[in-house]
Amino acid sequence: MILIIDFGSQYNQLIARRVRELKVYCQIEPPAITAEAIRALRPEGVILSGGPASIYETGSPRLDPAVFGLGVPVLGICYGMQYMVHALGGVVEAASKREYGLADLLVERPEGVLAGLPEKTPCWMSHGDSIKNLPAGFETLARTENTPHAAIACPSRGLYALQFHPEVTHTPKGKLILDNFLGLCRCKKNWNMRSFVKDSVKTIQETVGNEKVILGLSGGVDSSVAAVLIHKAIGDNLHPIFVDNGLLRKNEAARLDQVFRQNLRVPVRMVDAGGQFLDALSGVSDPEQKRKIIGKLFIEVFEAEAAKIGGVEFLAQGTLYPDVIESVSAWGGPSVVIKSHHNVGGLPENMRHKLIEPLKYLFKDEVRKVGEELGLPEDMVWRQPFPGPGLAIRVLGEVTRERLDLLREVDAILIGEIRAAGLYKKLWQSFAVLLPVRSVGIMGDQRTYENAAAIRAVTSKDAMTADWARLPHELLARISNRIINEVRGVNRVVYDISSKPPSTIEWE
Ligand code: XMP
Repeated sequence: MILIIDFGSQYNQLIARRVRELKVYCQIEPPAITAEAIRALRPEGVILSGGPASIYETGSPRLDPAVFGLGVPVLGICYGMQYMVHALGGVVEAASKREYGLADLLVERPEGVLAGLPEKTPCWMSHGDSIKNLPAGFETLARTENTPHAAIACPSRGLYALQFHPEVTHTPKGKLILDNFLGLCRCKKNWNMRSFVKDSVKTIQETVGNEKVILGLSGGVDSSVAAVLIHKAIGDNLHPIFVDNGLLRKNEAARLDQVFRQNLRVPVRMVDAGGQFLDALSGVSDPEQKRKIIGKLFIEVFEAEAAKIGGVEFLAQGTLYPDVIESVSAWGGPSVVIKSHHNVGGLPENMRHKLIEPLKYLFKDEVRKVGEELGLPEDMVWRQPFPGPGLAIRVLGEVTRERLDLLREVDAILIGEIRAAGLYKKLWQSFAVLLPVRSVGIMGDQRTYENAAAIRAVTSKDAMTADWARLPHELLARISNRIINEVRGVNRVVYDISSKPPSTIEWE
């Protein structure tokens, strides 16, 4: 494995992505990790990430310099380079000119991490500080116009450092550079999802033994994959609980039941709590209040069901790696990113169970591959995100059974057409919203005064920002025609052309 030390760069997850794409397992740890903990991980190489700090700033993140004495190759990137140079007796200084963006990397010695690179290749720079004097034993491999030491090395000690970012796609030879480094580390390229499944089944068995595990199944990718994986390890000692809150899309609960029970032979405890949720939401139209009511009731229902099982030691969750990484920032404090995901449907930390999180070192696309490996059907593995409070935050205003049913029909037509157009996987989310307005229309010779529905389709990488999707007009026309013709009670369809920010993806 490769150990990545996170000095706080916005790109640190990309480093991990690239290393894993090259089929080598890697793990990200904060600079506060001790030398003993590093040794215990037995890394075959260490990558020091970039970061926003300046090495001479007080409080800038430091790592135990024992890392240079482990006898394994170390690659410093940007701040990681400056930290390496500083720790080994070289000199770093504020550059006269900040360098940001593309630069030409002029390769003087195409060897070590730069083996196989052409004389000139683009690289992505983002730094204020630069290397002034190299530590003893180091030599320069490449420069740019503004940066005399853009790539340096001390091959006898296996130390390499880059001022630019090989992990971003703007550095086209970046992946080759990282691959060269993995070669210098003599890493075996054996990280794939099949070996992940095999290893984690063993780990889960060792951790859980003969105890019982409960898991809140939402129908989303993460909890579904976690459930199947854990079931593979411990069989019916896993008790997945699915709370049907009555706020799901058309056929969703039935489909989940069918896939888990019949296809995968994983027995799921289905709790039909729709009536309870509707009662609790009666007369409520404020979005935040809806979320609070739903979140609280979900926990109550889940805990009551768990209590029926009895003697449960473990609670399983489908936590993913990005959530774990974001919670350990390089500065030891909260991460700079303000999360817009509202964790309704999450469980309280004080549930008296030990946690198991078998996906906590995986990225989303890796989880999808595990799902495929475990035989989950494509529509579940590639499901678009769906909010915990479900359709309650898409029926604007008061939530009633009638309005939920109306929205389900509208949404089913929309999703059907999006799938038929081959766009489902390309969109981050596509859904319908039932608006709290009625408008006048004409059908046949009759005046109508009915509901308006909005269609929302967005592209996004991580839901932090999103753009409205430029759906083809013909597709929008078909969606609108079908909804108005087939759903009694809707006589107008509008398309939402707002981006996030300043709008959000959901309307409530
Ligand atoms: P917004 O509307 O804030 O949504 O742009 C960002 C992403 O989060 C999803 N979302 C939620 N997910 N519980 C969830 O599990 C929630 O309460 C919730 N609210 C929004 C939303 O669908 C989008 O993907």
